[in-house]
Amino acid sequence: MTQSLTIPRPDDWHLHLRDGAMLKAVLPETARHFGRAIIMPNLVPPVVTAADAAAYKARIMAAMPEGADFTPLMTLYLTEETDPADVAVAASEGLVHAVKLYPAGATTNSASGVRDFDKVRPVFERMAEIGLPLCVHGEVTDSEVDIFDREAVFIDRVLDPIRRAVPELRVVMEHVTTSNAVDYVTSAEAGLGATITAHHLIINRNHILVGGIRPHYYCLPVAKRESHRLALVQAATSGDPRFFLGTDSAPHVDPAKECGCGCAGCFTATNAIPLMAEVFERAGALDKLDGFVSRHGAAFYRLPVSASTITLTRGDATTFPAKIESGDGPVTVFDPGFPVHWTVTG
Ligand code: NCD
Ligand code: ZN
Repeated sequence: MTQSLTIPRPDDWHLHLRDGAMLKAVLPETARHFGRAIIMPNLVPPVVTAADAAAYKARIMAAMPEGADFTPLMTLYLTEETDPADVAVAASEGLVHAVKLYPAGATTNSASGVRDFDKVRPVFERMAEIGLPLCVHGEVTDSEVDIFDREAVFIDRVLDPIRRAVPELRVVMEHVTTSNAVDYVTSAEAGLGATITAHHLIINRNHILVGGIRPHYYCLPVAKRESHRLALVQAATSGDPRFFLGTDSAPHVDPAKECGCGCAGCFTATNAIPLMAEVFERAGALDKLDGFVSRHGAAFYRLPVSASTITLTRGDATTFPAKIESGDGPVTVFDPGFPVHWTVTG
């Protein structure tokens, strides 16, 4: 059995770092194992212009722990007012690596998202010309649609029409949670990738709801039934370069999760990489781990694979801190519910 594994330094292709005291608390957790991350723009107010992205990047760099080997890759939050020229300049300067589409109201801090997709068509066309990826939160927000169906319905109603209207647009379908999304991505000819989170490879909807409601497993898109989780594990461990890790690590302080109307988001920055080693080992696919966590995303984003490495070592079951402290309060670290034998040792 493999006891030690050295792979290129992983990247996180979907990460929430927040701002202020929370940023300061969670950034070291990501920077410990990851070399780069696509930074979500859903602050309050959101990161909508190149100037906003530059200012947010400066705040991230100011919060960076001493000696960290980590580069934040900034994104812009698409609104109906987004200026295609501003996006193009930010991309050409290497400041911005993607634009994020939130359907209005889909998730945490998405009220400024897009309602009328025709209004943002000029932005999509410009992005297609310059090869800038669109990161998509793929859920419809129609109150008539069941929460467990929102991803599948989004593919038919929104994503496929966008891709037909602007075929050259490069799209990342983010945090996919269904076999429908896996099938859609694998059926595409080109220009479509998908991120998968650590937690969606581990939990299904029973983990959230059976034996009591577990708020730290509640995230959006919500975890689906077991057959979908198995489809995600199959996609992630298959070696298919269209699938790559985007943790969607989304910290909320405990009081905001453990209450009458808890926020969506799982915090996995601390243990995502050891968890991935455990999941891939269980699937008999440790040889595919480096593709999923370190290579496929870089290729999609047209960036070099990291020149530095990390080493994972297998040993006795390890423990992770149950919580990290932020200046705003405690944040619970995702608990996979099974023993983890891998640690990052170098
Ligand atoms: C994210 C957050 O908290 O910002 N929450 C989540 O459940 N994933 C928003 C998001 O990415 O949907
Ligand atoms: Zn997210």
